[in-house]
Order: sequence, then C-alpha cells, then structure tokens
Amino acid sequence: MSAKPKPADKASLEDARAEHARLGAEIAEHDRRYHGEDAPSISDADYDALRRRYVALEEAHPELAGADSQSRKVGSAPSEKFAKVRHAIPMLSLGNIFADEEVEEFCARVRRFLGLGAEAELAVTAEPKIDGLSCSLRYERGKLVQAATRGDGYEGENVTANALTVSTIPKILHGAPDIFEARGEVYMAHEDFAALNARQQAAGKPTFANPRNAAAGSLRQLDPSVTAARPLRFFAYAWGEFSAPFAKSQSEAMAAFRRFGLPVNPLTRLCKTPAEMLAHFHAIEAQRATLGYDIDGVVYKVDELALQERLGFVSRSPRWATAHKFPAERAITILNDIEINVGRTGALTPLAKLKPVTVGGVVVSNATLHNEDEIARLDVRVGDTVVVQRAGDVIPQILEVIHDKRPPGAKAFVFPQDAAGQFVCPVCGSAALREIDEKTGATDVVRRCTGRLVCAAQAVEGLKHFASRNAFDIEGLGDKQIELFFNEGLIRIAADIFTLEKRDGQGRPRLAEWEGFGEVSARNLFAAIAARRAIEANRFLYALGVRHIGETNARRLARHFPDFKELRKAAHADDAAQTLSAIEGIGPVVAESVVDFFAEPHNEAPLNALLDEVTVTPMPAVESGHPLAGKTIVFTGSLERMSRDEAKAFAERLGAKVSGSISAKTDLVVAGPGAGSKLNKARELGVETIDEEEWLRRAGRS
Ligand code: IVH
Repeated sequence: MSAKPKPADKASLEDARAEHARLGAEIAEHDRRYHGEDAPSISDADYDALRRRYVALEEAHPELAGADSQSRKVGSAPSEKFAKVRHAIPMLSLGNIFADEEVEEFCARVRRFLGLGAEAELAVTAEPKIDGLSCSLRYERGKLVQAATRGDGYEGENVTANALTVSTIPKILHGAPDIFEARGEVYMAHEDFAALNARQQAAGKPTFANPRNAAAGSLRQLDPSVTAARPLRFFAYAWGEFSAPFAKSQSEAMAAFRRFGLPVNPLTRLCKTPAEMLAHFHAIEAQRATLGYDIDGVVYKVDELALQERLGFVSRSPRWATAHKFPAERAITILNDIEINVGRTGALTPLAKLKPVTVGGVVVSNATLHNEDEIARLDVRVGDTVVVQRAGDVIPQILEVIHDKRPPGAKAFVFPQDAAGQFVCPVCGSAALREIDEKTGATDVVRRCTGRLVCAAQAVEGLKHFASRNAFDIEGLGDKQIELFFNEGLIRIAADIFTLEKRDGQGRPRLAEWEGFGEVSARNLFAAIAARRAIEANRFLYALGVRHIGETNARRLARHFPDFKELRKAAHADDAAQTLSAIEGIGPVVAESVVDFFAEPHNEAPLNALLDEVTVTPMPAVESGHPLAGKTIVFTGSLERMSRDEAKAFAERLGAKVSGSISAKTDLVVAGPGAGSKLNKARELGVETIDEEEWLRRAGRS
C-alpha cells in the first residue's frame, strides 16, 4: 500500500461516460444495501475505491457530474458492523489431551481435587467435539431473543438475525426455564459444504478452505439472506444463564435439552470408568469419516453438576472437562526456505517456507520451526523433504525430515550473524542473545533481539498486540493497517494511535485519500479509536505487552490494583517484587517482569504519553460481594471435606485471596488438624482463626 492518492483518469469521454454510468449504478446499489439494510456486500475499502474512481472520472470530464451524480449524495455510516453482546456467563474454552494415557490422568486429577477415594464412582460423559464455531442462544419465555458468537469469551457479536435463518436452531423451546441460554456449535455438514463451494466456484467467487471457515463466514454475514442461503446446523452441548435449575447432571441436562427441542449430538454417552471413556473415544474416531460433519476429538465432562461446580475453572478452561483430540493430519512436502520472524518480545522464530501442500483439506505453506535447538534436533536444511503436521488452528509443524531425499550440497542453517560472527537481529541488527537463567544456569531455547523499541519488528508487533482483540480491540486497526501506519511514520508508539485523527492530513494527504481507505473507512477508524479512550485496567495492562502478562495475569493484577496508578507506584517501590508476588497467582518471575517493565527508562515516556490520551477504568467486578471477597485467607493443617486445592480455588471464586504465609495482612486462618507454627503465628498476630466446619459455613458450602 502507498499513501499516494490514485492518479487522475485518462479515458476518452465515451469510455468515461460508460464507466461512470456503470459505477454510479453500482454505488447506488451498495448505498442501498449499506444504509437501508445494514448489509453491505463489499468491504469499506472496495466501496471507497469505487467512489474515488467515480469522482476521478468526473474530475477528468466535468460534464459527467450532473445533478443526479452519486458524488452529490452522502449517507450516514454506522461505525460498527455487529453490535457487541456481553456474556453474563463467560464462554470459555477447553483444555486438551492427546494420548490415551491422559484419560486416566484426567480422571485422577479430578479425583484428587475432589478428594474422591478409589471406591467412589466418577461418571463422565463423552461426546464428539464438533469443529464449528460456538454460539450462545438466549431464550426468554421459550422464545429465541438473541444469538451471540463467542468472541473473546466475555464479549461476542450479536448474530440474532442470522441465527433465525438456521433451520436446526429452534426459535421456540418447550418447557425450558424462563431465562435460558443454550450453548453449542454452529457447523456446516460435508454435503452442504461441497455444494456451497461448487456454487461459489460457478459464480466466480472464492471458495472456503474447510467447513468450519464456511460456517464462521456464513454466520458472520451482515446480510441475513446470505446466511439463510448457507445451510448451517447446530448441536447444543452446554448452557449459560438460566432462571431455574433443569438438571442435576450433564446427561440429565442433555435429556432436558432434547425435551426442550434442542438438537443434541446422538453420540453422547455416559461412562463410568476411564476404560469406557476410551472405548467411546475410539468408537467415535472409527466413525469420523462417515459422520458427515467435521469433528476434531471427543469432549469428556464430569457428569454430576454439583461436582462440576466444585471443580470450577482454572484460567479459561473448566477443571471438570477436557477435549481429547484426534491425532493431527500429516503430509509430505519440500522446505523451500527458512525465514526468521522477530516477535513482540524480540524472540527470533524460524519459519519454514514450504512448497504448498494440502493437509487435512487446508493448503499449508508455512510451518513453525520453534527455535535453533529444534532445527538442530530435526537436522532440517533448505531443500529437504519434510513431513508436516497440522492440528486444528495451530500453526503447522515439521515433524521429521526424510534424510534419504536430501539434495546434495544442502547446508546446515545458521541464524543471521554480522561480519564478526556475532548473532544479530535480522531486522535491526542489534545483538541477538540466548539469555542464561540466573538461578539454573540453563540457556534459554529462544534467541532474542536486544533492540527493544529500537527494533522496528518489536515495535510493530507490540503495536499489533496493543490494538488486538483482547487488548484495546480497535476495529479497523488490524495488523496490515498498523504496518502501514508504522512504515509511513504515523504511528511509532501506542499514544500515536490516539493522535492520528488530530494529525490527519498534516504534511500529507488525508487518510480518506489514501489507497485502501476513503471517507467511510477513515471515519470509522477514527470513531473506533475514540471509542477506546476509556479502557478497563485489565485490558490496558495486557495491551502493554509486558512479558509474562497474559490475560489471566493482567486480570489478577487489575483485580488487586483497581487503580493503574497504584500498580505503577507499587512496581517502583523498593519491595516491589515482594509485594507483587504476594498477589494470588503472581509468581516471582512475573513480578520481576512487571518491575523491570516499569523500571525500564525507555518505557517511561511512551507510557506517560499513552496515559495522557486514555483513561484507565477499574476492571468490572465478577464477584457478587460475598463477605469473604477481598479477604486474605491462609489454609493450614489438613482439611477433611475438600482438598487444599479445592479450598483455595473456592476461596478465590468468592473473591478472596489465598496466601501461603501469615502476616499482619492476613484476615482469616482456616486451621485443620496438624496445623503447627502457622497457627501459633496467627494467634500471636491476633488473626481470626476458624476450623473447617466454620469455613464451609462461611463459604456457603455446608
Ligand atoms: S463444552 C466450558 N462440548 O470446543 C466448556 N465444547 O475447545 C464449554 N466444542 O469453545 C465447551 N464441541 O466451541 C464443548 N461437545 C462439545 C464441543 C465443544 C465443540 C468447542 C467449543 C469450545 C471449544 C473448546
């Protein structure tokens, strides 16, 4: 892309008149779809390109610009495509297992957490894992009132109009609670997928790589009539909010779903032992090719809902369920080249450029090689014949090299070096080092560029992360746009995003005149940026891209420090690392990383500039004001009615913090038999001490 406006037209009047008339009709039709039906069939950028060409023709031939010219008309433009829906109960994901042995381990983990003896029964359901996209359907008094995609798990897109066109999604439920959210997978069956692609091809339109992409593309259509023409289907397997209980177990819930009228997968089974789970897994695997829709594994769920409740969640996945994935698909191809990518944290990642090959229905031309050690382990060289594997959404991997097929003269790969033989970053030329862990003395597997913000690659990747969905989520500011603005020198640090509009047109054409933009996309982009000037603390922290601060740690820190300024102050204090690692879930490595980030002089000015532009708001509370919320609890001695892990998880769910050591900040000590020195210390400090029975009572579990 370039920042230059398109050149003026050179066509003859006759040609120009014909083209002008054609474009005028096209623009009128797009306007009608956009403003009248909220259902454009082309991108904003393509629309703007049409308009620009139209105006250029008029400029070259002013006689074309009559009273009814489209250039005299303007419409109002909605800024967002789909409205957002906040999920009252988050839509989370599942942990994975791959090997048969892990089934037993999963059950053992569950038993350990619940403190179940070997004699106690643990029933688990097993059902196909549908390869589609998840969707939450909200029914009020039996009527479908809203459908939402998963989005980032907390906020999805409102796709109600589209869901109403899916024939297997019931519009009315019978006997369901007054408020009831059914969750499940929207997917496309193989036969429908083949027919759709044939239609696309016949119409000269792009085809879809696989049924999941086709389903996602179809559900997320702005024009519901397009969705209606794409035969989607639905299986329900979970639920969100509900106003009255409807089952005591997962299997009862599925039976209730059927009675309500929801489609439930017929291969769902209740298993009593790991052996039964595995048998069902292999039975489903054997039918995979003939099911008529894509599945990528089997989902196991602890059957009893009371146990699910006790098991709860860890980070974004339930402890009570897991996905047992089928082995990934493989293919053989040639390694054409190895490129080095520089990531946000400076990690140099080798990327294999492959001769394109189809793996499980998807064309693959890139694979990750992870790091230097992996290249050495595989002994892979440019020109080699390699086996690639693709599992679900993850970037394909090179599994092995077929050494017999190595071409003569193939050379071992070395990371970029300067003239003196020192390893350097291929983007900025700074030294690229493998750090040595101070404690263990081990060398990090990752080689990192030391250039930080000096390195264009790190800066750009940091900005992409900043604007990405789970961070600032700025619509219209995707990876491509960030790269463009960065290369044009318009955005160098995050704060620049927020001054973009103010600086628009200074010393260069206005954004609306750039190729690939236009009035509509420029206006929408500025509106999307303005909409993010107030941002929740957890998103803000995550967006900063501090090493080791993913979404979960960002939430932990934001919960502890609702005011971002307090966190910054704490991170600058002498005992910062200690204070931070006292926060539940924050370990010393993470604490150190936060301290380093705030201590780094290079980060100071960009952060201040950013805080001049945006307001950081407290993270919305998830907890319900339970009396234990905000309290710091220490468990000591043995507990009889729940495992230590469960007690801890339970306390956290109520909003309490669990600490391992007693200090003046401890609010409550739960002491079981065998509590020793901690109990004495608690007494010395005058901290309230209770037994397990009392704990269960206060936690609402007795
Ligand atoms: S249960 C809280 N059951 O897999 C857990 N998920 O990798 C709720 N999926 O986001 C999910 N088939 O989109 C569940 N039978 C099934 C599923 C299933 C497909 C998807 C779902 C989820 C993803 C997690």
